Amino acid sequence: MKTALRWSSGLALLALLAGCRGDPSRQPPIHVVPNMDTQDRYNAYEPSGIFADGRVMQEPPQGTVARGQERADDALWRGRSPDGEFITKWPEALPLTAELMKRGQQRYNIFCAPCHDAAGEGKGIVQQRGLVPIPSYHEQRIRELPIGQIYEVIRNGVRTMPAYRHQIPVEDRWAIVAYVRALQRSQYASAQDADTAKRENP
Ligand code: HEC
Repeated sequence: MKTALRWSSGLALLALLAGCRGDPSRQPPIHVVPNMDTQDRYNAYEPSGIFADGRVMQEPPQGTVARGQERADDALWRGRSPDGEFITKWPEALPLTAELMKRGQQRYNIFCAPCHDAAGEGKGIVQQRGLVPIPSYHEQRIRELPIGQIYEVIRNGVRTMPAYRHQIPVEDRWAIVAYVRALQRSQYASAQDADTAKRENP
């Protein structure tokens, strides 16, 4: 009796181990309750007999109204004018308000200050740890960048700076652009820029 038990548990162990070889398989995994999980469908770019042009991917019908995804506003989405140049004037679609500026300050301090520092001099904590050189926003060349190009830098990165479009949505990108401009202005302000009350009662 004891020997039989030993034999059978030995065999069971062998069977278990044999099941763990981990061979890749082209079969779908065993699906006990299939519900409607696997159904016939087309993949993108597959040919299809359903449509006259034989393609799965169809153009939307003429006059289709985009809902939230149109992205036709080049100034807002790409920081460019219709002729492809970087814009130098604020995009009309997004009102420049004090709240937007505040948001820009907050987002800047989260996303940009680790490298560019709070004043935009390029001496953030990452730079201090010996990353590639980071330019100051107060260099003449960067002060003269069109706002569309600063937006582009946030969206797509530039040379050694990574892109931030996946972390920062469009309106926040512009909020940050406004704040970068404010930082630049802060280093080159004149007494006339301060509000009158403060100028007269320092
Ligand atoms: C990981 C570090 C890092 C972060 C975070 C970062 N930058 Fe940069 N940035 C750089 C580096 C490095 C350069 C210089 C790139 C080069 O010239 O090779 C640069 C360059 C720039 C320039 C100058 C572009 C030019 O044409 O020379 C601007 C403007 C700028 N960054 C804006 C931003 C803004 C706005 C943010 C926040 C959304 C940001 N950066 C976040 C590292 C960073």
